[in-house]
Amino acid sequence: MEQPNQAKIIIAIDGHSSCGKSTVAKEIAKKLNYIYIDSGAMYRAVTLFALRNKIAKNEQVDVKALVACLDDITIEFRFNPVTSRNETYLNGDNVEEEIRQLPVSQHVSPVATISEVRERMVALQQEMGKNKGIVMDGRDIGTVVFPQAELKIFMTARPEVRAQRRYDELTAKGQQVSFEEILANVVERDRIDSSREVSPLKQADDALILDNSDINREEQLDWVLQQVQQTTNA
Ligand code: DC
Repeated sequence: MEQPNQAKIIIAIDGHSSCGKSTVAKEIAKKLNYIYIDSGAMYRAVTLFALRNKIAKNEQVDVKALVACLDDITIEFRFNPVTSRNETYLNGDNVEEEIRQLPVSQHVSPVATISEVRERMVALQQEMGKNKGIVMDGRDIGTVVFPQAELKIFMTARPEVRAQRRYDELTAKGQQVSFEEILANVVERDRIDSSREVSPLKQADDALILDNSDINREEQLDWVLQQVQQTTNA
């Protein structure tokens, strides 16, 4: 279902954590032959830079020091034909795996609240979308990065459903975790994402809500593709 050039649009996908935004965004981008950008990966890459340079540690970030280094941070995505996915590069190093690991996850929230960091990331994200034909997922894509996006989707699922998915993922990897702990973490992350001062997670007025608590992957993909078709035919 490749769109002719002139019909290419911007698709902004925002929503709660652990509700499968990146899975949907990747699948849609593949179907439409669009670029997929994981904006969270960019905040994670900045966090990795801070960790590598000892600007972040013990869940604290030296904001002044990080802001002073922003010109030394280059983040890009390069397509890997073997994995068929965009991988994140920090100053020329492939950091796709490292940015998903615990130290980065533990320090990324405070990094993502620094307004100077956000300004840089938003400018980069806007540059990436200037030719349209892009699917970007995150927390502020439809509200701040691309308020003019033709299609905005706000994804969510009940906290218990998201916690169960995360629990299944972790136990499948052999990790010993408690469901109650994971549920508490999901609820807490929602609270932090939605209540932070800078670019809080909120649904854009013109976003369509996709609650995937009770639908499967195919149904969800079909629904999004229908919305794309309606948007491009409008
Ligand atoms: O989606 P994720 O877990 O990879 O995001 C990592 C962190 O970055 C998380 O704390 C939310 C934050 N984030 C953000 O503030 N704005 C975005 N557009 C994307 C992610």
